[in-house]
Amino acid sequence: MQIFLDSADLREIEEVYGYGIIDGLTTNPTLLAKTKTKLTETITQICAIVSGDVSIEVTANDYENMLAQSDKICQLASNIVIKLPLTWDGIRTCKYLSHKGIKTNMTLCFSANQALLAAKAGATYVSPFIGRLDDIGQDGIKLIKDIRQIFDNYPMVLNTKILAASIRNPLHVTQAALVGADVITMPGKLIKQLLEHPLTSQGLQMFNDHWSASGLKF
Ligand code: E4P
Repeated sequence: MQIFLDSADLREIEEVYGYGIIDGLTTNPTLLAKTKTKLTETITQICAIVSGDVSIEVTANDYENMLAQSDKICQLASNIVIKLPLTWDGIRTCKYLSHKGIKTNMTLCFSANQALLAAKAGATYVSPFIGRLDDIGQDGIKLIKDIRQIFDNYPMVLNTKILAASIRNPLHVTQAALVGADVITMPGKLIKQLLEHPLTSQGLQMFNDHWSASGLKF
């Protein structure tokens, strides 16, 4: 399983990538809009820090303009994955780009059938949004489980990676891993939270106290 950072904040990316456990990165128009920096420079810098796949989303809604934007975005770095919405124009663009050998990430996935179509169009990744489904009283983790089962039923033809997105808490991370997500993307704050445990902090404090009191040295 891979862990991606969901961010467009350069300072956060440098810090969290430095932990050595990040395999790639996802962004979306909301995250990029928050940076208020020059778009192409931000993307180039992100792709220089992160050596794995970096998803950059098109903002066009029609096939021709999605292709035109994809072309421009791809020229910015070699590790870019084109992120496309699960619409028919997005599916057509995905099919075209996949055929050309360009990696894609089909986003805003809220149903197993959408994921099935993303896989049929040759997507590298499909991004089911766990938190946003939970927000409307539906079971986000169940969606990951269903997609996993469908893809595993046809391993020779459906080899799109399941990228669990809209992850809001540590329980989502454990559950997404348990049901077989290939990738989990999450904000930096949550990645930091994953290592926290009160017994780890208390235990470390106790070891430090005992060691200092002993006067021993390595
Ligand atoms: C990642 O690809 C998604 O854009 C992101 O996880 C969405 O998260 P949100 O629902 O918290 O905005």
